[in-house]
Amino acid sequence: MSRTIARDTVGVSIRAASKFYGSFRALDETNLEVAPGEFVSILGPSGSGKTTLLGILGGFVQPTSGSIFLGQRDITLEPPHKRDIGIVFQNYALFPHMNVADNVTFPLRARRMPKSEWPARLKAALDMVELGGFGERKIHELSGGQRQRVALARAMIFEPRLILMDEPLSALDKQLRETMQIELKHLHRKLAATMIYVTHDQREALTMSDRIAIMNKGRLVQVDTPERLHDNPADSFVAGFIGEATLLPVRRVDDRSVDLDGTRLVCARAVPNDAELFLVVHSEKLTAAPDAVPGTPNLLSGVVTETLYQGESIRIFLELDRGARLSLRVPSNHQGRSLLKAPGERIAVAIHPDDTIVVPQAR
Ligand SMILES: Nc1ncnc2c1ncn2[C@@H]1O[C@H](COP(=O)(O)OP(=O)(O)OP(=O)(O)O)[C@@H](O)[C@H]1O
Ligand SMILES: [Mg+2]
Repeated sequence: MSRTIARDTVGVSIRAASKFYGSFRALDETNLEVAPGEFVSILGPSGSGKTTLLGILGGFVQPTSGSIFLGQRDITLEPPHKRDIGIVFQNYALFPHMNVADNVTFPLRARRMPKSEWPARLKAALDMVELGGFGERKIHELSGGQRQRVALARAMIFEPRLILMDEPLSALDKQLRETMQIELKHLHRKLAATMIYVTHDQREALTMSDRIAIMNKGRLVQVDTPERLHDNPADSFVAGFIGEATLLPVRRVDDRSVDLDGTRLVCARAVPNDAELFLVVHSEKLTAAPDAVPGTPNLLSGVVTETLYQGESIRIFLELDRGARLSLRVPSNHQGRSLLKAPGERIAVAIHPDDTIVVPQAR
């Protein structure tokens, strides 16, 4: 496939958009700039406003205030089919009684594109998702992954400059999901289109995105690269949502240290000046310190409560001497296995000051 479907990619700009249903605020006043060709995921719990935000972009939800720009064009008042936006819904929304070709060309019909253009577009779209030759198949004769690709082809056939996807992989099993994630990444690269992708699966968002927008209660809490979200979470909500983290209440001692139940922990980064603070302990950042020399910074000790063998890694749960509970993850190689302890045995662990993350309580 040599043809690139989206030719002139544009960015998206959400300017002070909000959405109220009666007095209920589904979307707080929101600003977001998405660069041309960028892949941005919207990640958040159920009911946080993800579909509402996507609906405002797609034109299915009219914002209560604010405006939406596609490149330089204000599309706030344009109906969905005039917006140049391809959409993939969670349930595919394919027409079961129509064959693949009729499903995929549906947007061309809706947009009254000249019929002479259809065959070339259909071929390009099906080739793109590796379904060349499937045109005559009925939808019910396809696997879940193939149906998903039909939905993608249908979203791309009219060369949209922006593609919106609402949990497109949630109905698929784990293995197919992972295959489709990689395929979607390839498609994104090939298309060079701007993508906005809704998911509530943090691993999916971390794998696929240039940036992730974390939503909570109708608000964008933090919009950042996967790495920065993981290592520099803005607050306790983001920290609890990204990665395998335990949050423990701590007290600020000074700019570079906090107190955890009487143990002083040194932080490489400045401690926020908030009243309520949490230490964020990612289980992969906690190291077991069997031969810990006194003086090792941020050394904690406690008792193993449980060990879980999970194939590629082992997760060890422990209870610190003052009662706080943590977990650490070690690779299941010979070194990791040597750390395996029975419940009740004592264990010492350390968090490097560079990995000692302290965040304020979410508002
Ligand atoms: N048409 C509507 N009328 C009233 N309230 C609505 C309407 N649509 C959505 N809401 C409310 O707005 C909030 C956000 O809904 P939204 O569908 O955007 O959530 P979401 O983040 O997509 O959740 P999920 O992960 O479950 O799909 C929810 O509390 C929901 O009940
Ligand atoms: Mg939703």
